[in-house]
Amino acid sequence: MKKQLVAVVMAAIFLCVPMAFAEMPGPDPDSLWEYITKESSYTKWEFWPDHQGMQPGRAPHGPLHKVFVNDRALNSTQPPVQYGSIAVKENYGTDKELKAITVMYKVTGYNPDAGDWFWAKFSPDGKADIFGKPAGCVGCHGTRAKNDFILVHEFK
Ligand code: HEC
Repeated sequence: MKKQLVAVVMAAIFLCVPMAFAEMPGPDPDSLWEYITKESSYTKWEFWPDHQGMQPGRAPHGPLHKVFVNDRALNSTQPPVQYGSIAVKENYGTDKELKAITVMYKVTGYNPDAGDWFWAKFSPDGKADIFGKPAGCVGCHGTRAKNDFILVHEFK
């Protein structure tokens, strides 16, 4: 009887642990795009409290942008942010036309030398132009490695 109970509890643990993570996409551009546009729909996410709505930006991203963050990022009070955190940045031209979508996604063990971020740059229709561990993204954001490579939000 006791053995059966142990077996049931063990089975429950083994089934539940992977399920808790199952909803997050792998570090590849297609699954990430699918996740942020369909499964989770980033436009319903929030903004950082200190970076609301459309904001002026710098090169290379363009003159205007919005940065949406998921719950895991938003609930992270200290750097590094929690695994599974995603920041989606909509990049606009001066005409307020959407030009590109750049994404940072924190994946356990993906790139320990540079904050475990998976980087991607998509065209507005979801084509991944650049993705993975691009030296450009990592290098420039790496100037704020202490802020977990995040530039628009300052952890206090
Ligand atoms: C030369 C510097 C530079 C490079 C290269 C760069 N970024 Fe950024 N990134 C910035 C700056 C500056 C911001 C702050 C917002 C702004 O000014 O546009 C930013 C903001 C972001 C944000 C919003 C989250 C945050 O960190 O605040 C994302 C997501 C992002 N970049 C993704 C990328 C990706 C993906 C790449 C590579 C394809 C990339 N960036 C390359 C400078 C850079």
